Amino acid sequence: MSARRPGGAAGRGSGNASGEEAGGGEGRARVEFSFDGRVLSAPPGSTVAAALCANGVQAWRRTRGRGEPRGLFCGIGACFDCLVEHNGRPAVRACVTLLHDGDRVATSSSTGRPSRA
Ligand code: FES
Repeated sequence: MSARRPGGAAGRGSGNASGEEAGGGEGRARVEFSFDGRVLSAPPGSTVAAALCANGVQAWRRTRGRGEPRGLFCGIGACFDCLVEHNGRPAVRACVTLLHDGDRVATSSSTGRPSRA
């Protein structure tokens, strides 16, 4: 006898045995964007940070003083660690910026403060 939990995930469409989530992109188009000249893709509705991470990119900025790599940290727009150049605009927070098809994303040379970009 199989163990089924009443009201569990099975049968409610919130997941399945393969680990896919409902609305997880099966059959949906992906958006294409460039990062430092490389063409990458991500599921629609991704933030720039999520799209970069999904493509294995973990750092897209260097600190001013020591040149240490920075990428996603807080993920909620509070820390400004994730600044990136987005469609020619410097110092854009990647974690709160939605990605669109054809976007151009580049490593940021920002200071980490939008006013000093
Ligand atoms: S990761 Fe902190 S502001 Fe984006």
